[in-house]
Amino acid sequence: MKLSVLSSVIGDSPTLKLNAKAAQLKKQGEPIVHLGGGEPIELAPKGSVEAMLAKVQSGKIKYSPASGLPELKAAVCTYTKEQYGKDITNENVIITGGAKQAIYNFLLCAVNPGDEVIFPAPYWVSYPEMVKLVGGTPVVVKPSEGIKVKFEEIKAAVTPKTKAIMFNSPNNPSGILFEADFIKNLVELCEEKNIWLMTDDIYHQLVFGGKKAPSPFAYSKNSDNIVAINGVSKLFGLTGLRIGWAVSTNTEMIKAMGRMQAQTTSCTSDLSQVGALAALQKDQDFIKNLQKTLETNRDILLKELSQIPNIKANVSDGTFYCLVDFSYYNKSSLEMSAFLLEKVLVATMPSAPFGVDGYLRISYCAGKENIVEGIRRIKWALDKNATGEIKIGNKIIKKEW
Ligand SMILES: Cc1ncc(COP(=O)(O)O)c(C=O)c1O
Repeated sequence: MKLSVLSSVIGDSPTLKLNAKAAQLKKQGEPIVHLGGGEPIELAPKGSVEAMLAKVQSGKIKYSPASGLPELKAAVCTYTKEQYGKDITNENVIITGGAKQAIYNFLLCAVNPGDEVIFPAPYWVSYPEMVKLVGGTPVVVKPSEGIKVKFEEIKAAVTPKTKAIMFNSPNNPSGILFEADFIKNLVELCEEKNIWLMTDDIYHQLVFGGKKAPSPFAYSKNSDNIVAINGVSKLFGLTGLRIGWAVSTNTEMIKAMGRMQAQTTSCTSDLSQVGALAALQKDQDFIKNLQKTLETNRDILLKELSQIPNIKANVSDGTFYCLVDFSYYNKSSLEMSAFLLEKVLVATMPSAPFGVDGYLRISYCAGKENIVEGIRRIKWALDKNATGEIKIGNKIIKKEW
């Protein structure tokens, strides 16, 4: 039996693949340091855990309305007012199976076969595949220098076939926060050209140095072409709940996304929605603490990296990640990442699947000890003058390269 053409066109998720490989090596007893992950090590916040326990004990775990529990939608409205300065009502919200499903539902409802969808590189690994899944054409805008795209470069990529722009800030994998002027220009461009603007804001409160992610709604005359994606995965470390949402003043878009969801998943988990609701209502301090921890960890990572010659670390403004230029050692990020995993058991994400090569995405959400130990190993592996062996867990590794 033959599989569909589509199934062979769509690639694996490289991030999930790396997680699986690191988990497998760990299970085999290997002293792996995982600096490639995309979830904080913090345990679930208390309010969320207690609410879910009570729900489990009630024994009532049923279908919810397809587009989400009204109480959770109302909490998202409050959140949107507080964080984006935008007044919305429940009909402007859909609750989804993680931010990922919100993005996919949006693309299903916005894109016709052959339509172009623009996003800048470096991009989140799933964007090209999701655009292909809905029959669209991914249009990647590579920055002419470095890793920060200029607004003019995005503008130049717009054609009569452009249907949507997808934008993620602060950005996975670069950690770059795009400033207010950039967002304003983007909003105005999409309004003028009648293009959907999807902002993937999944890390938007996890920014450092007192900065704040600008709200796209602040710059729009009529926000009906904007769809803002968010969720509890990153802000509360609740990646396993699989709760995200999309917000738009365009109720036709929200209704259409609801129809897609109703026919494919019925609804997201009732239990998880209760957990997410409690997180939004009771666990806001968790976000502040996580943000502080991440900022401290980022600084530790940058300090440790500064001891490795000939690399260039980009100072991230937020998220869980720094994108570090290792091209002096190897221009292929896939080879570089494989080398570090094989030789010194450090997992990092190669940048190639994010649309730029020569970099590694190093996560600082895995805790201070992992960062220090991981960079110690990387430094040793790359240093020609380092001693001939290193102790890693119970192992002694000899330098044979
Ligand atoms: C930029 C970006 N968008 C969306 C997602 C998906 O989030 P969720 O786990 O809520 O589906 C991720 C997860 O890594 C991400 O990094």
